[in-house]
Amino acid sequence: MNFKQVVLITGSSTGFGRLFADTLARNGHTVFATMRDPGGRNAKNVSEIRMLAEKDSLPIYVLELDVTDDTSVERAVNAAVAKAGRIDVAINNAGYYLSGLEEAVATEQVQRLMDTNFLGPVRVNRAVLPHMRRQRSGVLMHISSGAGRVVLPSVGFYCASKFALEALAEAYSYELAAQGIESVIVEPGAYETSVFGNSVTAADEARTNTYGAVKEMPAKVNAALSSRAGNAQEVADAVLRIVETPAGERQLRYFVSPRNYGVEEINALTKQVQAKVLEAFGLAADTKFLKGKAAGSV
Ligand SMILES: NC(=O)c1ccc[n+]([C@@H]2O[C@H](COP(=O)([O-])OP(=O)(O)OC[C@H]3O[C@@H](n4cnc5c(N)ncnc54)[C@H](OP(=O)(O)O)[C@@H]3O)[C@@H](O)[C@H]2O)c1
Repeated sequence: MNFKQVVLITGSSTGFGRLFADTLARNGHTVFATMRDPGGRNAKNVSEIRMLAEKDSLPIYVLELDVTDDTSVERAVNAAVAKAGRIDVAINNAGYYLSGLEEAVATEQVQRLMDTNFLGPVRVNRAVLPHMRRQRSGVLMHISSGAGRVVLPSVGFYCASKFALEALAEAYSYELAAQGIESVIVEPGAYETSVFGNSVTAADEARTNTYGAVKEMPAKVNAALSSRAGNAQEVADAVLRIVETPAGERQLRYFVSPRNYGVEEINALTKQVQAKVLEAFGLAADTKFLKGKAAGSV
């Protein structure tokens, strides 16, 4: 890599997002650590990040960004571009976990989940892409999950939100390659963050209670996930490696997990199948990455 990157991260108050900000900034990258409500619910996190940035002279700037709010997303992206002149990498990290038997999850809970986990990245990508297209370079990074490739009972809606994100991120990768922009997907397994503490549970207890022994599934799944959780710094180190990979050499998918339960095999098979699909539709040449050369340029 020949230059330091300008990186915008969503959901930087805690967990992965906070670690990504710290790890990237310590390696010389300029980081816009965005989060919702920096003057209220995240005021303590903001002051901790700012104090650390000042103490260790880290290039981290905090911006307000709520991924469920178009205006907030556009304002943050414009502020980052005004300050740094560009955005090289947008890390779609903000998200949360919803646990419970699917029938017991209220429709409004599903709408809120999709508004954050799926529509959040849609908003961020729509806001950053005009800048990346002008630059003729950039990386859209999507923090999906192993649960974006395999399905666990009582995690159906969370899986659905990450499966949706995977489909979108893959479509972006084909459409943007010719303009020198990459779309990549990071699929973490279970890692120690605030994710389980911040999770939402299915609202309809009355329905849950009619499921007999099956109603214990969410607790079993969550206990298994928490007990296997790895050190979240592993994911931050993987994100650093991806950010520092030269343009055009990044993979579409990176599975990062303390254990493999078949996701790598699914990814390898999908890669072969998708290559055939693109070939069959006559799209193979159009979806190739063009280094330093935008579509239509001479
Ligand atoms: N930890 C794991 O085992 C694991 C595994 C696979 C994938 N993931 C994914 O990794 C991502 C980060 O999760 P985490 O594990 O780091 O959990 P976390 O510590 O709970 O962090 C989630 C972050 O998302 C933010 N967020 C939620 N709604 C938001 C909104 N509307 N606008 C802006 N930010 C919002 C939270 O901000 P507030 O502080 O304001 O709530 C928080 O900063 C998520 O997408 C999650 O699905 C996690």
